[in-house]
Amino acid sequence: MLRFAITLFAVVTSCTCQKYGCLEGDTHKLKPRNPYCKISVSFLTASCCYANFTEQLAHSPVIKVNNSYWNRCGQLSKSCEDFTKKTECFYRCSPHAARWIHPSYVAGIQSVPLCQSFCDDWYEACKDDSTCVRNWLTDWEWDENGENHCKNKCIPYSEMYANGTDMCQSMWGESFKVSESSCLCLQMNKKDMMAMKYLLSESSEESSSISSSEEYACQKKLLKFEKLMGEEEEQTR
Ligand SMILES: *[C@@H]1O[C@H](CO)[C@@H](O)[C@H](O)[C@H]1NC(C)=O
Ligand SMILES: *[C@@H]1O[C@H](CO)[C@@H](O)[C@H](O)[C@H]1NC(C)=O
Ligand SMILES: *[C@@H]1O[C@H](CO)[C@@H](O)[C@H](O)[C@H]1NC(C)=O
Repeated sequence: MLRFAITLFAVVTSCTCQKYGCLEGDTHKLKPRNPYCKISVSFLTASCCYANFTEQLAHSPVIKVNNSYWNRCGQLSKSCEDFTKKTECFYRCSPHAARWIHPSYVAGIQSVPLCQSFCDDWYEACKDDSTCVRNWLTDWEWDENGENHCKNKCIPYSEMYANGTDMCQSMWGESFKVSESSCLCLQMNKKDMMAMKYLLSESSEESSSISSSEEYACQKKLLKFEKLMGEEEEQTR
């Protein structure tokens, strides 16, 4: 049953973004600044998606993405929706997602390292919104049109998930995990370019612990990067 649900979800949702191609293809083929992905992670995420997919995420409120309704428990708040879009866009469209391809399920990802702070902020943004599924990949009931429906009643995120860590590690199945590092982790913004450099060069061994020298180098680069961004901001004021 679980396998069926996962397969169905993949069939329903994965087509126009060429996820198979991108997940299996050349992970380093980054095409920055696709003009069609008008959400804040565009430079990282757009290249595996067609415009007709990203268009669905480009406005607000998002009612449904393809056949998957986002408002089954009422419209998500804007801030919660923004986080949901970021992760959705990463999962569906990022050329880097293939780095974490699921070993037994090519359209899926596993253990993408998210920053603790990102998960905590995401939880904070959504805690008063409602959901009826703990795992958004498997817990829906799908009708014959491929549309998702609640099986259980809607409850606040704050009841469904204990905290940001719990949310990040359950909402999309095994897709994400919270990283022990506060630098070698993704937070769906420009800083990811930095972290990604290290993460992509890491050996692909599962949950290889990050060496302290890598952590140190990353922290140093991140500081530099933040300083640079700060200066840029001041100059444009
Ligand atoms: C959306 O759903 C239609 C009809 O079920 C399907 O043909 C199409 O490939 C889906 N697109 C995406 C992006 O999943
Ligand atoms: C989206 O665009 C691509 C490329 O133009 C096309 O192959 C695909 O059929 C389109 N999908 C939908 C659902 O319109
Ligand atoms: C988050 O919730 C999980 C599951 O209930 C718990 O094990 C963990 O200690 C909590 N973490 C924090 C930081 O509170």
